[in-house]
Amino acid sequence: TTAPLRVAVSGAAGQIAYSLLFRLAKGDVFGSGQPIHLSLLEITPALPALRGVVMELEDCAFPLLNGISVSDDPAVAFRDIDAAFLVGSRPRGKGMERRDLLSANAAIFKAQGRALNEQAKRTAKVLVVGNPANTNAWIAIRHAPDLPHDAITSMIRLDHNRAQAQLAAKAGVDVTAVERLAVWGNHSPTMFADWQHAVVQGRPLPDLIGDHAWYRDTLIPTVAQRGTAIIEARGLSSAASAANAAIDHMRDWVQGSGDRWVSMGLASEGDYGLPQGLVCGVPALCRDGRIERVRGLELDAFARRMLDRTVAELMEERAAVADL
Ligand code: NAI
Repeated sequence: TTAPLRVAVSGAAGQIAYSLLFRLAKGDVFGSGQPIHLSLLEITPALPALRGVVMELEDCAFPLLNGISVSDDPAVAFRDIDAAFLVGSRPRGKGMERRDLLSANAAIFKAQGRALNEQAKRTAKVLVVGNPANTNAWIAIRHAPDLPHDAITSMIRLDHNRAQAQLAAKAGVDVTAVERLAVWGNHSPTMFADWQHAVVQGRPLPDLIGDHAWYRDTLIPTVAQRGTAIIEARGLSSAASAANAAIDHMRDWVQGSGDRWVSMGLASEGDYGLPQGLVCGVPALCRDGRIERVRGLELDAFARRMLDRTVAELMEERAAVADL
């Protein structure tokens, strides 16, 4: 029998986790032959609600769910973990300044980075979902110097999946037919969905769609404002699709992406003129549990401008928390 993997999820009583946990326990990330132990992290006041989620997980009688533990201490929740989904973060409260929000999250991800540094397996794969995801990941990386490079990543996959679906629909092809899509930058309305390198069966997607005005004036803003559109329509945020994107990000990382590009928030190694260490959405491939950046792409003037804009926002966020 295969030993269970320990998988931590923070924000485990929240909306995204309410989708994510059940799919994890079903085997959607680690495969149908791999049992897991779920190590759930929440803040103390949310522990009673989390108890209800645990009851529901038990009631699913998932064959792969080997055990569940619950804690409000990251040092306990992250002990010996193989993977972590850091979903919990401080939401913006009424009258809260941006600076207060950044500083509250900086404190959370500093503590969680330290706990990962001390407690996680050296092979652990960590995905930061909680916003501001890129900057939270940057803070966690800074406080986990003993973990290998690329152990901590941030999520831009929801934007990637949104763009992929819109582009496939416009081109009139299956969603899987769109390849070499790249989503760059911050997980925020400044993110840049780049179709310049995208192909369908070897044919350039921009040629296939043939409508550059649609790309600039419809596709890019639609993807950027999708979260807001869903909140307006549903009265609630896009938790199920966010959980799905987290599943996709981790599954591809663990099981490999094949030849398909994925977009991941990664600490910059200086490619494309990105400042060293800045956690930025970039195209990548995953093989044998490792991440390979897609390097050397030519960026046209439009792409360069869009990338510079989102990077400027990331640097501003980083500067704001670096002061704290
Ligand atoms: P939610 O508010 O329903 O749940 C968040 C949970 O995190 C709450 O139960 C809260 O108690 C918990 N939490 C807060 N501080 C914590 C801490 N220090 N340690 C552990 N748990 C803590 O929010 P939801 O809808 O589940 O979203 C979670 C986060 O994901 C938000 O920050 C949201 O903005 C972000 N998000 C990111 C996306 C991305 O693409 N990167 C996409 C969608 C959402």
